[in-house]
Amino acid sequence: MIDTHCHIIPGIDDGAKDIETSIKMLKIAEKDGIKTIIATPHYYRNKYECNIEDAKNHLDELKELARNEGISVKIVQGQEIFLDKYTVDLYKNGTIGTINNSKYILVETSFVGSKPKDVLENIYEIKLLGLTPILAHPERYGFIIQDNSSINEFIKEGCLFQITSSSITGIFGKDVKKTSENLIKSGICNFIGSDAHTTGRRSPRMKEALEEVRKLNENAYESIEKNSEAVISNKELDIKMELVKKKRRFFPFL
Ligand SMILES: [Fe+2]
Repeated sequence: MIDTHCHIIPGIDDGAKDIETSIKMLKIAEKDGIKTIIATPHYYRNKYECNIEDAKNHLDELKELARNEGISVKIVQGQEIFLDKYTVDLYKNGTIGTINNSKYILVETSFVGSKPKDVLENIYEIKLLGLTPILAHPERYGFIIQDNSSINEFIKEGCLFQITSSSITGIFGKDVKKTSENLIKSGICNFIGSDAHTTGRRSPRMKEALEEVRKLNENAYESIEKNSEAVISNKELDIKMELVKKKRRFFPFL
């Protein structure tokens, strides 16, 4: 299993608070059967501004300590980029980067209040750089929970999608769980990430969620590991996704 989203690097965002926590998280991941973790600290302007080079240096320290602890989980560098109108410039000047220097970049937006039109504009700009955006946790955005078919514009724009394991297991409540199930059934689940921040409720676990994915959509389940490997090794992915049908509302005036 490859965890494609994890705040495992200590002290640079709201993830692991210290090195002990990072090591404990790695041990949890290892026990769960995770072989590779993509470390994805936030880059969120005015909030978490650790640049990609500094993040790599922190990760190198963590890797060495993990080796000394006998932990076999492999960790590769990534970032979780909060999209805004500065994203392109930040990429061009080397402040932010992609997953393992590939063409794949993990992006996020606000859970509440983000407007699909603005997010799509940012996505479009990223595509112009020759990058492939992977949208983190679509199932947790208000506009997608409200109308699952609003993800269609993102599919048309060439986005790939990463669902959070704990959304599937219900940690974020029933609406998020339901949305993640709908997306998985529709095949809109190219990757799974734990989005782990701690050793507690949001720890790096994937196994249970992947079992759920297998029950919901065997094809999606089969492709997740392959897609995740392709991202890390910067291989081309040719993914076709069906659009989500808009739900008919019988009482639109309500
Ligand atoms: Fe995250």
